[in-house]
Amino acid sequence: MKKIAITNQKGGVGKTTTAMNLSAGLGLVDKKILLVDLDAQANSTTGLGIEKDDIKLDVFDVLVNNTDINKVIVKTSAKNVDLIPSSISLAGAEIYLSNKNNKSEKLFEERFKKIKNKYDYIIMDCPPSLGLINRHALTYADEVIIPIQAEYYALEGLTQLLSTISLVKKMFNSKLIIGGILLTMFDNRTNLASEVEAEVKKFFKEKVFKIKIPRNISLAESPSTGLSIFDYQKTSKGAIAYENLTKEVLKD
Ligand SMILES: Nc1ncnc2c1ncn2[C@@H]1O[C@H](COP(=O)(O)OP(=O)(O)O)[C@@H](O)[C@H]1O
Ligand SMILES: [Mg+2]
Repeated sequence: MKKIAITNQKGGVGKTTTAMNLSAGLGLVDKKILLVDLDAQANSTTGLGIEKDDIKLDVFDVLVNNTDINKVIVKTSAKNVDLIPSSISLAGAEIYLSNKNNKSEKLFEERFKKIKNKYDYIIMDCPPSLGLINRHALTYADEVIIPIQAEYYALEGLTQLLSTISLVKKMFNSKLIIGGILLTMFDNRTNLASEVEAEVKKFFKEKVFKIKIPRNISLAESPSTGLSIFDYQKTSKGAIAYENLTKEVLKD
């Protein structure tokens, strides 16, 4: 079982789009996936067809109330992809986690124990902050995928993210690696995108995924239909890109 955290404290860089569609891509090649929505905005939850009103238990219950994880897991619209939904209540979890009585480093490991080996991949869609939820996710993960939007200021904030990753690695999780840097919303026609790509490659070298996710309207539309890109528009550029990303992730 491989645990992947998809993280970047910047909002709007493609974390959720990647979490949903990488999960769906892996599911289509018969891997069993548990997608964990760790963002109070719950975009991964609604994006794969779960109505907010239908959610009785969510990731807050798992983390804070110690509710049996198997009672919280739901099926999504994507083949072989199960989900731990999120809701706005997750916004209160940081306070709980910051209480000194709840500081267990192994929180996720403890709470996720009961699903052991039921899944091939656990994909965590992280919130846009470097708070405790993010830190716990990194502590639990085997690897991190960092989506970077190929735009001006793309590299801003990366230093903090990388130092958070190395802190977690040093203190809580020595096995943690950077699985890959993913360029998202890439527009081939602009010089800026190529400049950002060159910068990112100079810094991260072979850690950068070969596939760049293009800016693609179908990727932006599919969440409102509750379907992954493969079920929404499987011949779109976005679907082909995420299929290629899936192959790269399967390789290592
Ligand atoms: N490759 C893409 N092409 C077009 N729109 C995209 C692409 N990736 C993401 N988006 C859109 O951009 C917005 C932010 O993406 P999202 O994945 O939610 O980012 P994050 O989870 O990092 O906040 C969403 O509206 C999403 O649909
Ligand atoms: Mg998101």
